Amino acid sequence: MIKSIKLVNFKNFVDETLRVGSFTVIVGTNASGKSNVRDAFRFLHGIGRGYTLAEIFGGKYGPGGQLEWSGIRGAPYAIVRFGQPAFSIQLDLEYEGNQVTYFIKIEFPANSEPYVSQETLTKESKSIYKARANPGFGLQLYSGTNDRESGILDWSKPALTQIVLGSVDQESGRSSWSTPTLTRIAGDYIELYKEVIFTGIPLYLYGFRFIEPEPASMRVPSVPGTTILGETGHNLSTVLEAVCADANRKRILTEWVHELTPMDVTDFEFPRDPSGLVHLLLHESNGNKVSAYSASDGTLRFLALLGALLTKDQAGLYFLEEIDNGIHPSRLSLLVELIEKQTSKGGIQVVTTTHSPDFLGLVNDSTFENTSVIFRDESAASGVIRPVSKLPKARNLRQTQGLGRLLASGWMEDALAFSEFDTKGEKEEENDE
Ligand SMILES: Nc1ncnc2c1ncn2[C@@H]1O[C@H](COP(=O)(O)OP(=O)(O)OP(=O)(O)O)[C@@H](O)[C@H]1O
Ligand SMILES: [Mg+2]
Repeated sequence: MIKSIKLVNFKNFVDETLRVGSFTVIVGTNASGKSNVRDAFRFLHGIGRGYTLAEIFGGKYGPGGQLEWSGIRGAPYAIVRFGQPAFSIQLDLEYEGNQVTYFIKIEFPANSEPYVSQETLTKESKSIYKARANPGFGLQLYSGTNDRESGILDWSKPALTQIVLGSVDQESGRSSWSTPTLTRIAGDYIELYKEVIFTGIPLYLYGFRFIEPEPASMRVPSVPGTTILGETGHNLSTVLEAVCADANRKRILTEWVHELTPMDVTDFEFPRDPSGLVHLLLHESNGNKVSAYSASDGTLRFLALLGALLTKDQAGLYFLEEIDNGIHPSRLSLLVELIEKQTSKGGIQVVTTTHSPDFLGLVNDSTFENTSVIFRDESAASGVIRPVSKLPKARNLRQTQGLGRLLASGWMEDALAFSEFDTKGEKEEENDE
């Protein structure tokens, strides 16, 4: 389970940490930095997908020319905080009872490509590997607690990628420092590979999913076999078809669709068109069959969320942008209930941003503990992240006024502005008691 993500000079954050729980909610005014947090998770996911830094930042096209990955918002020089030479991201997680920390720092030199300048992976405070840039030479890798020199890696991609994917560039014949030369003493290398895999990090980073459904994408029929929901909701029909292949999951899906939408959906059908693409048809109790083309935007959004949360190949962490978007307030409580229920089982984590006071007013105590506000500090042009529960008197006010009202009235930002910025938690903890 991901515990926290720490951002240093990433976009508008100087040095901020977001606490992450089963269900994490992020609020904040426009341009406070909510989507920048999403971008940080996307950066890590790009590593999980085995991309180079250039691909993570700029995008990646598949062999057929299709866009496989859309890169991070903004030019590379706008991903590091304006005027800074480097950013770093640290992810803390607990995997099989062990505390694991992954840290990566990216340097942006004035006249050349960004490179990995530092990277570490630790488990229970013991070093699995450390990598440090050696300019003009490459990324020097040290493995184990005794920092054994284990090879020179290519600094245009994370060491993690090169260790996990092994010798992908081995035959590329590029200049010597840019070719991974992991110590080829087989036992040594395999040992390191195993240690890295056993931290859970590659799996976690790969398993992030980002969902920002767009009705137009959800209406596109899918290619058979594509069972992972695309960022804008592509592949919806095949994702739901896969869910329906399992009788129990199908029952849960149908129950939730029934609850969440005013339509009385009794069944799903996935007809193929002559070109083999898979379409989506919803059967209603009155005998009507409604295709994805004529289903409402809100219905499709619910279906996308349900598809993502109920799918068999479940990801570890879902980042949902503006979850309340297009959803009627009367259905929000069910949406909150759905996510709190699915995440409380422990398999998946959900992080969402929201502008909705109604949504916030509905979260349970445990989600409240994992709700953070991002405040835009105009004087420093930066974002400050704080758990709402650590703001002075937040717990009391939540009881008396409701969290939604505190969001709508701007109380959170005011409370943050008036509590001392530089105390970074310690003082706020006291306020809590
Ligand atoms: N490299 C950077 N350095 C400093 N600040 C940056 C950088 N890149 C972006 N920003 C700031 O981040 C802001 C955008 O943040 P973001 O998109 O995360 O907002 P948001 O909280 O998602 O807002 P909304 O609710 O409108 O979607 C920009 O307005 C800009 O001020
Ligand atoms: Mg945003």
